[in-house]
Amino acid sequence: MQNQAVVDRTIWLDGQFVPWKDATVHVLSHSLQRGSLVFDYTGVHQTARGPGIFRLDVHVKRLLHSCELMGLPIAYGQAEIEAAILETVRHNPGARAVKASAYYASVEVDVVPIDQRVSLAIAAYDPTADILGHLPAQPRPRASTVRLWLEKKTHQRREDIVSPQAKVSANYASGMMAKSRALKAGFDEVLFVNEDDQLAEGPTTNLFVVDATGRLRTPPEKRVLQGVTRQSVIELAAADGIPVDESDIAPRELITAREVFLTGTTAGVLPAESVDGRPVGDVCPGPIATRLGDHLRLALKGEAPGFEHWLTYV
Ligand SMILES: Cc1ncc(COP(=O)(O)O)c(C=O)c1O
Repeated sequence: MQNQAVVDRTIWLDGQFVPWKDATVHVLSHSLQRGSLVFDYTGVHQTARGPGIFRLDVHVKRLLHSCELMGLPIAYGQAEIEAAILETVRHNPGARAVKASAYYASVEVDVVPIDQRVSLAIAAYDPTADILGHLPAQPRPRASTVRLWLEKKTHQRREDIVSPQAKVSANYASGMMAKSRALKAGFDEVLFVNEDDQLAEGPTTNLFVVDATGRLRTPPEKRVLQGVTRQSVIELAAADGIPVDESDIAPRELITAREVFLTGTTAGVLPAESVDGRPVGDVCPGPIATRLGDHLRLALKGEAPGFEHWLTYV
């Protein structure tokens, strides 16, 4: 049987705690068949004050925004979801991450579900021990720098298909395809362009570039997923006196870039050592990625002055 990662955890499912193994949907459910599941995911960090959930309010806001973009009429509001997430993390000691999923559990025929009830499931777990540890083979150990592949064919981030701002499962299909091609070719991560052939983001990360003139830039937030780490890095950079220019970046600018790095909940600040096999800048990690990565790590522990409010203590 494929990995079901049966672990001793409880999942919050529409207001009830159910054992991990019972948090299932039918194989013909709309969300599974049509890719309509909306989710959000944040880290639970070990701090001197106990476990802290990173930017809980912003993640829940983004979950509700994704539901709105996809037309999922979720019945829970911001405060209810935040309270349910906190309760779930409390129920699952040792959790390192929490994922909230909103989905149509109904078995349907058409693309528009007739039963419009949206279920909400919240899981708090340790991705390494509870999921990776149960897989038949282990992924390559995560490196501290990555070899990037620029996906030139698939224009994955397209406003005219599914908004890149919706964290919906359908948006991850081309990421799966492009990244599996890149892994086979010996790369670690991929970067997508948008429909105007400007740099967009990776399948689960946002992009930052220190360009040839030394400016720190990131693609405009309307064209990508509004990454919470992206936004946090912009705020940390401002506190460090490093302005961030949110503007289009052409792929050719990667050739002369001094630094390229990715950001995400799992990735943190992840420097790219090369793009398409061509080394980036003179040194990797570069000084700006190092500085912002250090600052982010402090913030995740609740130890960055001025950013303590980013954590909600359990
Ligand atoms: C498409 C995409 N871009 C960027 C990110 C990074 O977002 P965050 O920093 O909120 O994890 C993600 C997260 O999974 C993502 O799916």
